[in-house]
Amino acid sequence: MTRFVLFFPQQQLTFPLMLTVGTAVIGSLQFGYNTGVINAPQKIIEAFYNQTWTDRHNENIPKTTMTTLWSLSVAIFSVGGIIGSFSVGLFVNRFGRRNSMLMANMGASWEMLISGRFVVGLYSGLSTGFVPMYVGEVAPTALRGALGTLHQLGIVIGILMAQIFGMDAIMGNATMWPFLLGFTFIPALLQCCLLPFCPESPRFLLIIRNEEDKAKAVLKKLRGMTDVSADMQEMKEESRQMMREKKVTIPELFRSPLYRQPIAIAIMLQLSQQLSGINAVFYYSTKIFEKAGVQQPVYATIGAGVVNTAFTVVSLFVVERAGRRSLHLLGLLGMAGSAVLMTIALALLEKYDWMSYMSIVAIFAFVAFFEIGPGPIPWFIVAELFSQGPRPSAFAVAGFSNWTANFIVGMCFQYVEELCGAYVFIIFTVFLLCFFVFTYFKVPETKGRTFDEISAGFRQAASGAEKHSPEELNYLGADSQL
Ligand code: GLC
Repeated sequence: MTRFVLFFPQQQLTFPLMLTVGTAVIGSLQFGYNTGVINAPQKIIEAFYNQTWTDRHNENIPKTTMTTLWSLSVAIFSVGGIIGSFSVGLFVNRFGRRNSMLMANMGASWEMLISGRFVVGLYSGLSTGFVPMYVGEVAPTALRGALGTLHQLGIVIGILMAQIFGMDAIMGNATMWPFLLGFTFIPALLQCCLLPFCPESPRFLLIIRNEEDKAKAVLKKLRGMTDVSADMQEMKEESRQMMREKKVTIPELFRSPLYRQPIAIAIMLQLSQQLSGINAVFYYSTKIFEKAGVQQPVYATIGAGVVNTAFTVVSLFVVERAGRRSLHLLGLLGMAGSAVLMTIALALLEKYDWMSYMSIVAIFAFVAFFEIGPGPIPWFIVAELFSQGPRPSAFAVAGFSNWTANFIVGMCFQYVEELCGAYVFIIFTVFLLCFFVFTYFKVPETKGRTFDEISAGFRQAASGAEKHSPEELNYLGADSQL
């Protein structure tokens, strides 16, 4: 964070830059909003499903059918996310970063519930690629880390908004819930109105489109100064680097020993984010709290959203000092401890009433430790682990892994919970401990190292393990030391 404070000169944080980044992260906000929106009104919407069922079949909906329908309503969002995040590469180089975001918005409106959630999932999946890419490309180097973290901040604020709007007195009631789900239309509209005032990414203009004058004009506007030669120089260097490095396809990422280790790390970090069980909380906490005997479960859910937001801000301030690896390890271990606490609280609920308070403390701690490391770090570490050539493919693989694991948790949690009862969080504890061990042995620290130094580290590790084919050596660039 010292970097943040030292390099926070007013002229770098210009109004056009703030408008640009602020507009882009409306996409993250919508991702968060749709993650949190189905949590509070579960009972009311289930009553609506039951009503539809009774109208058609003259009987109450069977319990297993309800579990299936509701799990599907929750998890279909991630199916959209899987497809969306995997498709990022189809858009960004063809239409540009800004126009891609504009196009993605066309789909986000209310439809019928399940298909509607699929569509907003599609949009959210695209956003998880577009937003970090666009923000990273318009930000000056000194502010890239801080502005990059705004993606996760946008997500958590979106979740919190959804939780607050989901209160009975606002929109979480039998008449208003369709508006609660449809609200996402408003930020979509806002983003559509604001994006035309945002410039296209200067890196896209120069490196992909070869439009030097346009890129220069955009940079002048964003930086608020006429001399942008240093930025232009850096971008040209990146462009040269990219020409030396062949574009790496997804299968090549897995085949080449050069990328096998970083791609394994990228995938495992995404899995550690989702299989930690965080979305069991953000999709189902109201029900979990209710089962734990909490009197006002919706308020406890909002409390979790507040803790979530607060600790994302904490992470923003410590990530440059403490480093990614140590924060991720601390977060995983803390989450494992909280999950054990949660299990104890649920198991002893019948004996001691006050265990319901303990369940609140356990969930708050679980969420706080998540945002210390496993929340924000996996999103930005992918860019750090890969150089220009393999980066787009790596983003696709990472996004796919993240959303697939998100789907599995959203779809299966209710069934597993019915099977395991109070002990459901033990499953997440086991996962968390496995990811802790993996991170301890395999994940290098990337703090303060340039992209070049990081990939050089992986190159060395790979060259120690195996000999490369001439084709693989080609990926390394002409100035490779190998
Ligand atoms: C991360 C996850 C997302 C989760 C959120 C919670 O952004 O990707 O799935 O809901 O954190 O804050």
